Amino acid sequence: MRTRPLKVALLGCGVVGSEVARIMTTHADDLAARIGAPVELAGVAVRRPSRVREGIDPALVTTDATALVKRGDIDVVVEVIGGIEPARTLITTAFEYGASVVSANKALLAQDGAALHAAAEEHGEDLYYEASVAGAIPLIRPLRESLAGDKVNRVLGIVNGTTNFILDKMDSTGAGYQEALDEATALGYAEADPTADVEAFDAAAKAAILAGIAFHTRVRLDDVYREGMTEVTASDFASAREMGCTIKLLAICERAADGGSVTARVHPAMIPLSHPLASVRGAYNAVFVESDAAGQLMFYGPGAGGAPTASAVLGDLVAVCRNRLSGATGPGESAYAALPVSPMGDVVTRYHISLDVADKPGVLAQVATVFAEHGVSIDTVRQQGRQDSDGEASLVVVTHRASDASLTGTVEALRKLDTVRGVASIMRVEGE
Ligand code: HSE
Repeated sequence: MRTRPLKVALLGCGVVGSEVARIMTTHADDLAARIGAPVELAGVAVRRPSRVREGIDPALVTTDATALVKRGDIDVVVEVIGGIEPARTLITTAFEYGASVVSANKALLAQDGAALHAAAEEHGEDLYYEASVAGAIPLIRPLRESLAGDKVNRVLGIVNGTTNFILDKMDSTGAGYQEALDEATALGYAEADPTADVEAFDAAAKAAILAGIAFHTRVRLDDVYREGMTEVTASDFASAREMGCTIKLLAICERAADGGSVTARVHPAMIPLSHPLASVRGAYNAVFVESDAAGQLMFYGPGAGGAPTASAVLGDLVAVCRNRLSGATGPGESAYAALPVSPMGDVVTRYHISLDVADKPGVLAQVATVFAEHGVSIDTVRQQGRQDSDGEASLVVVTHRASDASLTGTVEALRKLDTVRGVASIMRVEGE
């Protein structure tokens, strides 16, 4: 074994960074044996140097991240600060100064992955980011390496633990969105500002990364259709149950049936209780991958948290250190397929539409005509007179598969009918 250690600079020492440092220390001998050389924490860049960081030599702590990555003797920079800047500049500077990078930064990878990969390649360095999607769950390496000989057609997953916790609470207790969010906040699952999670920005970034790797195509955050889950109601869950479904916030990346394009989207959807993703409870994540040869695979585990995310970071650190010792680099960006990313209107799926309508003769026929005029075929219709209303009924329509554009056109036309008093909810039905 080489005795001269590989030097690691840690950028960020919060929930994840502190766990990375702890595991590097407590597992030092095992890591050295697995890599073939010891790894040494050479510096830790933080914003608040006065905070006590147990187990970290205060002499290693600095507020000058730029100087740390420019030292010239750093082998690997571990970036766990998140956000676009200064992370982007620090990563590109690290490459310029001869270091490889392990990052957990989904927002940056989803926005600028191509440029970062190009910078890594230009300088002959590695860029690894297993921790950027679904915490501890191995996904990027399986898609990039294990399935490199297969053809992935679909990635369907729960990639945000906060929203899965909230939706699971709503499902199991009948709670409304706000009540479930309050509980998630009290238990520390939701951030004080939960926007990134509940409006699905976090899941959309992960979907962009997964789609890009799965389909060997550049998919950026802006290419991902995004709908948050703040509008999901207790009555949506009641409707889902009547259909033998539950509701999950799903990231769905699909290759079109003709193979000529891909789509990536994140939105709440009904999913049958019989689907493996329906039983993913609490803050857990799970991703279902469908490919030509392997068939259906499911990856499950903790998608967030200090130690689970650090596990993925450490796995990358070991891989990058091994590459460095052997004078090689690991797989870079694979975007050779360059498939177009189609808009949401081209997505084909099923829909559950809840309408408030006038309870009088001919209304059902009128509504059915609008669906027919837009080429959307109805699977089932359920009508219920409502005791509490003056001549109103609830009409629930479940469609066969149709394009999102056709469904949008249908709903716009329905809203114009005098007899349709309101569109209570529209939910896609997935996983069948
Ligand atoms: N906030 C994310 C979640 C974890 O709730 O899953 C980090 O991506």
